[in-house]
Amino acid sequence: MLSTPVCGLLGIEVPVVCAPFGPWDEVDLAVAVSEAGGLGSVGTAVRGLAELKAQWARLRDLTERPFAINHTTRPLDEEAFAATIEQRPTAISFHLAVPVDLIARAHDAGILWIQQVMDARMAAEALDAGADVIVAQGGEAGGQGGEVSTLVLVPQVVDMAGGTPVLAAGGIADGRGLAAALCLGAQGVVMGTRFLASTEMSVSDAWKQRILDADATDTVKVPHSERVLPPFSRPSVLGTPRTLRTPLVDTLREHPEEVDPARIVPRLLEAIGRGRGDEYLPFTGQSAALVHEVKSAGDIVREVVHEAETILGRSA
Ligand SMILES: Cc1cc2nc3c(=O)[nH]c(=O)nc-3n(C[C@H](O)[C@H](O)[C@H](O)COP(=O)(O)O)c2cc1C
Repeated sequence: MLSTPVCGLLGIEVPVVCAPFGPWDEVDLAVAVSEAGGLGSVGTAVRGLAELKAQWARLRDLTERPFAINHTTRPLDEEAFAATIEQRPTAISFHLAVPVDLIARAHDAGILWIQQVMDARMAAEALDAGADVIVAQGGEAGGQGGEVSTLVLVPQVVDMAGGTPVLAAGGIADGRGLAAALCLGAQGVVMGTRFLASTEMSVSDAWKQRILDADATDTVKVPHSERVLPPFSRPSVLGTPRTLRTPLVDTLREHPEEVDPARIVPRLLEAIGRGRGDEYLPFTGQSAALVHEVKSAGDIVREVVHEAETILGRSA
């Protein structure tokens, strides 16, 4: 079985991490990925504390394997973060800023810190702050991200990271991507878009079908997202979302002044609450072009690892 040192650190069998999906419920997906030997994640955005606690309890009921709980600065929910520390997941993953104070709190509680970075400056901050794992996220990625491509960012961060493991994210959807990431010096991958189109993920079939049908050029960066998404609470680093196109996305790109936050935000939140939101902002990466079938998360993990092993064995 393909294993790298980060597997030992995180207590997993194969170096495949499922991305957190902000407010979308992904407990079943996280369980499936963790049970398959990877690392499942759950997001915390927008959900109230009672709902998050119910999700974590369900997760713990369904698996004893390691998982990560994610937070971001859009915005940071201090109450949910404190509850996460009490929950003691294997790792806290974080995106959109490097919060030195929160890293120290996690470490004091014996929780590993997985820091997603979008460029070299942020990677330097994360390494200085003592992050245990760095996720180098290229601009191909679905969701909030930067501009630097995965192919450039991963080796750049690996060169800076010394003994700190680096995972590659953005544009990876199969074993070729995992093999390539390992060749670039990463110790594994984080996949988002590939796992969105999995049987266990709670988003709508319509969204999954759009991923199967999409070309890379059907995903676009969405400026002016502050008109519809929560504000950044620690605005040192600002990501820009990448999504599939919708009428809202086109308006945000071309005529942002026509988007009325008072009308859109409640509708968006209501839709996300029931697993939709794809009619407004379907966060999706360029790797949609590589996703042709909805599969179970366990099959995705096994196939990605098997394909990478075959490629690497062949090249060795
Ligand atoms: C629907 C969706 C929601 C996301 N939400 C979050 C999030 O809340 N926190 C986070 O750290 N990353 C989030 N991401 C980004 C992922 O962590 C990861 O960087 C990205 O999915 C990797 O690129 P890929 O989609 O090409 O696999 C999200 C991605 C998607 C597709």
